[in-house]
Amino acid sequence: MVQKMKSFVFVQLLLLGSFAVATLAQQCLPDNERIDCHPDSGNTEAECLQRGCTYCPASIPDQNTPTCFFPRNWGYKMVGEPVNTGHGFRVALERITTSTVFGGDSNELNVEVDFQSDYRLRLKITDNQPRWEVPLKIDPPATNATNPLYDVIFVNEPVFSLKVVRKATGTVIFDSSLGGFNFADQFIQIGFKLPSRNVYGIGENEQHTFRHSFEKRPLFGLWARDQAPSGNANMYGVQPHYTVVENDGNTHSVAIVNSNAQEFEMHPSPGIVYKTLGGVIDMYFFLGPTPENTAQQYSEAVGRYPLPPYWALGFQLCRFGYNNLETMKATVDRMIASEIPFDVQYGDIDIMDGNLDFTLGPSFAGLNDYVKELKTQGLKFMTILDPCVSAVETPGTYRPYELGNEMDVWVKRADGVTPAQGKVWPAGACYFADFSKNSTREWWKILIKEFHDNMLEFDALWIDMNEPANFVDGDMEEGCDEGNSLNTPPYVPRSLRGDGKLYDNTLCPDHVDSLGKHYDTHNIYGLMEAEPTIVATQEAVGKRTFSLSRSSFLGLGRYITHWLGDNFSNWPNMHHSIIGMLQFNLFAIPFVGPDICGHLSNATAQLCQRWQELGAFYPFSRNHNADGYIEQDPAAFNGEIIESTKKALTVRYTLLPYLYSLLARHERWGDTVARPLWSNFPTDSIALGIDRQFMWGSGILITPVLEEDQTTVQAYFPDSRFYDYYTGAEVNVRGNYTTLDAPLDFINVHIHGGSIIVTQVPAINTDAQRNNPFGLILALNDNGEASGSYFYDDGISFDTVANHNYFIAQMSASNKTLNYVSWMNQYPGMGQMIVDTIRLLGASPAPTSITVNGAPHSNFTVLPSGEVLISGLNLTANVDFIMQYN
Ligand code: NOJ
Repeated sequence: MVQKMKSFVFVQLLLLGSFAVATLAQQCLPDNERIDCHPDSGNTEAECLQRGCTYCPASIPDQNTPTCFFPRNWGYKMVGEPVNTGHGFRVALERITTSTVFGGDSNELNVEVDFQSDYRLRLKITDNQPRWEVPLKIDPPATNATNPLYDVIFVNEPVFSLKVVRKATGTVIFDSSLGGFNFADQFIQIGFKLPSRNVYGIGENEQHTFRHSFEKRPLFGLWARDQAPSGNANMYGVQPHYTVVENDGNTHSVAIVNSNAQEFEMHPSPGIVYKTLGGVIDMYFFLGPTPENTAQQYSEAVGRYPLPPYWALGFQLCRFGYNNLETMKATVDRMIASEIPFDVQYGDIDIMDGNLDFTLGPSFAGLNDYVKELKTQGLKFMTILDPCVSAVETPGTYRPYELGNEMDVWVKRADGVTPAQGKVWPAGACYFADFSKNSTREWWKILIKEFHDNMLEFDALWIDMNEPANFVDGDMEEGCDEGNSLNTPPYVPRSLRGDGKLYDNTLCPDHVDSLGKHYDTHNIYGLMEAEPTIVATQEAVGKRTFSLSRSSFLGLGRYITHWLGDNFSNWPNMHHSIIGMLQFNLFAIPFVGPDICGHLSNATAQLCQRWQELGAFYPFSRNHNADGYIEQDPAAFNGEIIESTKKALTVRYTLLPYLYSLLARHERWGDTVARPLWSNFPTDSIALGIDRQFMWGSGILITPVLEEDQTTVQAYFPDSRFYDYYTGAEVNVRGNYTTLDAPLDFINVHIHGGSIIVTQVPAINTDAQRNNPFGLILALNDNGEASGSYFYDDGISFDTVANHNYFIAQMSASNKTLNYVSWMNQYPGMGQMIVDTIRLLGASPAPTSITVNGAPHSNFTVLPSGEVLISGLNLTANVDFIMQYN
């Protein structure tokens, strides 16, 4: 029987249930169809059979193929037929398997398939019992479903499974018939096949390739942890979100809204085996079909990153361990003296008194005056807060603690009454703020405002250690009760660091906050802290600002951004930073970057030189160093490094209005900012594997050197026109790799034909630069055409987009004519800005005459590369113009 309904197909395969059960249970499945039925310790044949699973050696050794695996008939069957809810289908399931993996199985399930829009589908599986669900804000789609891009197919033999099919191509983008479906209190598992091996995302873990490998079933455990890169260890944030480029270039992504400890196994089918220790299955599919559509649709749901202040796009400098104001000043002085473009100086916890939040230590007396002085030079200051507040200071001396007690803001032990005791940076015990409570948000706001107004006029705040990190396991005084299943669940993802303990270096899972048990809320601790932090910082600063958070969860970017956490000063970590940056762009947190030159261990001069060059192209560009390592600010090295850093950052500053426009597009439409080549070339099979090059938007290609002692670099150019940013010369290779010169003081940057890119005359910081003349790079494609737009505003007011206080120019070129249109002209300052130069690339033969608004313009030169450099235009930036080049 095959039954078809609107966007739904129900397939009842003609198999006889009981017969199928008997034979299939003993089938020795092919290696790439097996799902491990004994992921926990102990895996003898007897233990396997005892569990009701199948035991059979692998055909190919050393592939991590399970010998104990789920039989095909493990799982649930439908009860009756799917019910049309008017916006999808509801299906009741009952469990047919009598065996169990870890106990606590739910016998009845409810499957809801919700057609939220043509491009967004939600799949939710619950057991009709009260269970933890993540309080994540998901915004509705712009339009309802009228003609969905997908079909959903329910299958009931040998057990229930579900497929999602892309209607236009018939591609099955999700197929849970891979098996092993479990829904137990502390062990939910769903295995599904994917339509291609081009799978990206899932975090936060160190990943050595951007495109996932399926070889030997890599595991990615997700449980927020204070963890520097170490293999595929679970790191600071939890991003259960993956993107797949299908074999024909169509793209989709899937977010799993679950905050429990979880694990993704890259399965050779190819597919994913997803396990989580609690909550429900709640999956959102975004059908694209282009890579950018997919990113836009995902960010529409979880929230988009608001436009940061213009100054935040400048270069930023931090270190843990200046240790006194004199050293900080000396560092800033040499940065200024060396004329390296630079916008933001940081103070880390060493500015505090005894590492206590909201204090300044004696060795930083005078910091506030210094910060005020920096502001007069156009620089900004950012500092840090940790969430564990010292609980042992002399009574009457430490207001954050005392006010916190009064307002009852702490995470509690399992009794729900006594504050849980942690040990972090302060000398004694500390209490963790429970940011899920209104009183805590209020307390945080009061303290941030007082700190700003009375002690330190910071421009931005950075929140750290919010996994939450703890230097002891569980409660400092009493550890964690090992006798309950929250603290010691029957299964802990194998790939998590911490010797199988969820409470390793954090709170106990049975600790309590206002939302529930830490077991469920651990992974959203950083997200809970994010909103009150940005709200309080905005109120304190009174202008647009931004915040950084080390921990992240789905939707963090709605509030604040993320840096990639502690990394190492080594060459592989420099490469992996590109992967992290690209991933977080897929996670809708586009303003991202790692610690340039590496955080831990001593950076060598050459590593730092190359990293500063690459770092000029992270959307968020900050050099940050850990305590105890040699100085690594770019001015600390020799003149050659100073010069190359200056050169790379000058390119960045020249391109700042383009970067700002990309971030504005993200806020408005959800576009990615730093993106893989495949975002622009999804059908290019080589581009799908590239993670040593990346693009800004669709217009700029960056090719850094990522290895020591190399002065050339292999660059891939998709089959399209590209031009050297520096010379304007066209690249003579297409759809292939070529070797480019890359002397130590140089980073390769190319402009993609078809783009019109806005530039600005660079200066020493954005304050000095903001009103400098604009320029355009008009890079023609094969048809002699190009287009682009740019965004500008005052860079500092709140919500200029929502309040329509901004400017947008729309530009297009064809038939040897550039049309510049002031499309949105609501930023009053735009009347004082000019467009002064245009670099015309790819005009062949070179034009012999140029007119602007019909009048001849003689100030142009044809450079040896063929670039036509048109200068002295002096065109008011908010007035339309037409330029012809014949
Ligand atoms: C850990 C953070 O990851 C690092 O960036 C910071 O410098 C230290 N904590 C000290 O605050």
